[in-house]
Amino acid sequence: MKGGTNIAIFASGAGSNAEAIIDHFSKVDNVTVKVVCSNNPEAGVIEVASRHGIPRLTFSKTEFNEEAALATTLQQLGVSHIVLAGFLLLIPESFIRAFRGKIINIHPALLPKFGGKGMYGLNVHKAVKEANEKETGITIHEVNEHYDKGKILAQHRISLNGNESVEDISRMVRELEHEWFPREIADWVSETQH
Ligand code: GRF
Repeated sequence: MKGGTNIAIFASGAGSNAEAIIDHFSKVDNVTVKVVCSNNPEAGVIEVASRHGIPRLTFSKTEFNEEAALATTLQQLGVSHIVLAGFLLLIPESFIRAFRGKIINIHPALLPKFGGKGMYGLNVHKAVKEANEKETGITIHEVNEHYDKGKILAQHRISLNGNESVEDISRMVRELEHEWFPREIADWVSETQH
């Protein structure tokens, strides 16, 4: 059995970041991915978790918003840190209070640009392309009560020459996420362990 810090991954989609994180921490002794949580039982991330033998917890939007049970369950599992990897629901204040300073998110653009409500998935990359941006990238930030407004912990950039399609931008950003998110989580966990 591994000791150290237990993290929970929250995701609503395909789970490619979740898989990169699971792979990374399967080779590390001091951090364990204890559970994968999703508001969508059909999401690819559920299949990813089961393939890796990680317990899954699913819940409806209403359950997430109205019940304190999830925070309590996670605390009982010994989870201290929450990683949002493509999780589409706003985190309720009670949950943020329960894990104050211990929730992190990845956003597929360079915040504060291209953030906020509705800015997810291909919408973000379309907006970057339409604005003719010369660069894009990823932002890893703390989570508070407002979408994409928590303290920025790290950003990584790629240049754009204007010839990339929206799908190209999406693919390039995804690669950057897989490369950096697990390492940034490792740093953040070691800095916020107590
Ligand atoms: C990623 O681009 C992430 O930045 C965003 O949602 C996407 C999730 O993709 N918040 P995946 O489910 O990890 O493949």
